[in-house]
Amino acid sequence: MNLRIFESEIELDWEAAKALQFEIKNKPNLKLGLATGMSPVGLYRELVNLYNAGELSFRDVTSYNLDEYVGLDREHPYSFFQFMNQHLFKHIDLDEERIHIPNGCVEDVEKEVKRYNSLLGQEGQLDVQILGIGLNGHIGFNEPGETLSADTHIVTLSEHTRKVNSKYFNTLEEVPKKAITMGIGNILRAKKIIFIAKGEEKSEIVRQAFKGPVDPNCPGTFLQLHGNVDVFLDLGAAKGLA
Ligand code: F6R
Repeated sequence: MNLRIFESEIELDWEAAKALQFEIKNKPNLKLGLATGMSPVGLYRELVNLYNAGELSFRDVTSYNLDEYVGLDREHPYSFFQFMNQHLFKHIDLDEERIHIPNGCVEDVEKEVKRYNSLLGQEGQLDVQILGIGLNGHIGFNEPGETLSADTHIVTLSEHTRKVNSKYFNTLEEVPKKAITMGIGNILRAKKIIFIAKGEEKSEIVRQAFKGPVDPNCPGTFLQLHGNVDVFLDLGAAKGLA
């Protein structure tokens, strides 16, 4: 891993945006894996700033999100599609046709899982995957457990994850119980991973992910098997690695 520690979140967000800008300038038709959650929001803000300044275009980029809740359609205010729209898509020139997010609101969810997985397969390797980590070690929505799936699959969200994500909903009951997520194999196939974690509460799970034994009970540890992970941490999240 290529460890980069920053004194402030703003600096981290800016440097992560510059790193992605570099990748897109080198390969304008970049295949970009995207994440939701708070960790990449500052990066998205800086990407929008670079776009507004005329220093970055997403015209030929294709995007693939990690996950989506089952049962929420794209228009639902708490869907990941709307999250991405609010923080990134509606502000930039990424072609709608080239935005890919699993559709959690279809009759046949298994079929949608297969469609998304084969889309990822057909498109070949993603060039860059943006990634955060849950407090329980999940990446995408690959929750801790005895086994992990390589491919895109339906996951039952842990109560822990539902509680943490209930901050985006009005009540805990509203948080969907299932999601579609890229599998560990889909994630690890990306040529490069830009991993972002912020805040001291993430320091222990970040330490485990990068220093602990590779273990499905902490899916983030599988990142140790990837040869090209840029780890962007603020001082708080880096505490366990010092
Ligand atoms: C988001 C995702 C999750 C988040 C993780 C951390 O698409 O798949 O793995 O990256 O839950 O969330 P934040 O960044 O809100 O702490």
